[in-house]
Amino acid sequence: MYVCSCFGITEEQVKQHADAGRCTPRQIASACKAGTDCGSCVRRIQALLGRGEGCATRTKLDTAKPGTPAAPAAPAPASLPVPPALPVPVTAPLPAAASAA
Ligand code: FES
Repeated sequence: MYVCSCFGITEEQVKQHADAGRCTPRQIASACKAGTDCGSCVRRIQALLGRGEGCATRTKLDTAKPGTPAAPAAPAPASLPVPPALPVPVTAPLPAAASAA
């Protein structure tokens, strides 16, 4: 099933990219451009990655035993605030250059 109709990217392709270690919508966009045109697919991509179905790293994190840290947590510097999770900005391609004129 298509996830990104702008670039013809399927759910399976997103999962393959996730298996290759691309576990954020931004990384998926870098790999196949999904989400970089109209942006309407970014939430679907996020949902695919968020469930851990396609991302080996997330699956490991999600299935870690309670009380067992999945990854060593690096202490954040006290002087820097930790930003909340932000939606992935979608960058629109530059309009075609007016050079055609
Ligand atoms: S549907 Fe993915 S960028 Fe438009």
